[in-house]
Amino acid sequence: MVLKDKTAIVTGASRGIGKAIALTLAENGADVAVIDLNLEQADEVAAEIKRMGRRAVALAGNVADADSVEDFVTKAAQELGKIDILVNNAGITRDTLLVRMKEDDWDAVLDVNLKGTFNCTKAVARIMMKQKYGRIVNIASVIGLMGNAGQANYGASKAGMIGFTKSVARELASRNITANAIAPGFIVTSMTQVLSDDMKEKLKEQIPLARLGTPSDVANAVLFFASDAASYITGQTIAVDGGMVMQ
Ligand code: NAI
Repeated sequence: MVLKDKTAIVTGASRGIGKAIALTLAENGADVAVIDLNLEQADEVAAEIKRMGRRAVALAGNVADADSVEDFVTKAAQELGKIDILVNNAGITRDTLLVRMKEDDWDAVLDVNLKGTFNCTKAVARIMMKQKYGRIVNIASVIGLMGNAGQANYGASKAGMIGFTKSVARELASRNITANAIAPGFIVTSMTQVLSDDMKEKLKEQIPLARLGTPSDVANAVLFFASDAASYITGQTIAVDGGMVMQ
């Protein structure tokens, strides 16, 4: 129970990687606020956490909207009493080649992935600064490190998250708040379901560990950053990608 008496907010937590993160934090002792656009699915995740004996609250929220973020952060803090851990996981893709990319494709991805991370971190940082304790974990992507044709918007948003993490880590370190990022490779979720079997086979050839990742692979890295075992680590990005990108 490395997170006993800790509380967490996880965004985009109703399915996929966010759901695995919320459940893993709860399994290790944390009470969790499950945030998502989809309240019905978020409710199911919160119910699963309550069955483990933890406190949980499901809240509808749009990370791209600062007012919505203020609202769910306030409610989560009221419900859980404090916020020790923030996991910025909500994210979207709108893949297309650069010359076909519409301004709206660019704005939508940057608004959710990068501005959403800014909105949530800003709102939660105020609480963490008063507490003089906090763990911020941002779910970026290997695409933010290595790029990918057809993902100029997504790659920019994820590289932006990595730069944001480093600045926030420097700014909040004196308040005992760490900020780190995780760069997952190809993880089996609805986001990667769109890939054909042929594409998945080709991908595996680029992955030294020769398999796609699971949401749990990412959740375990979040657990490490959120725990006191990582108290002397800040501003870092760790790739959870089967060895695809070696820095
Ligand atoms: P997913 O599409 O299965 O889940 C994303 C969740 O975020 C959904 O529940 C969705 O409702 C929620 N969401 C979307 N926009 C939101 C908003 N504006 N406000 C609140 N919630 C919102 O995606 P997946 O695969 O679980 O990805 C989670 C994170 O991991 C994303 O940031 C993604 O970019 C990142 N990632 C995923 C990889 C993969 O291979 N699946 C690889 C690298 C990074």
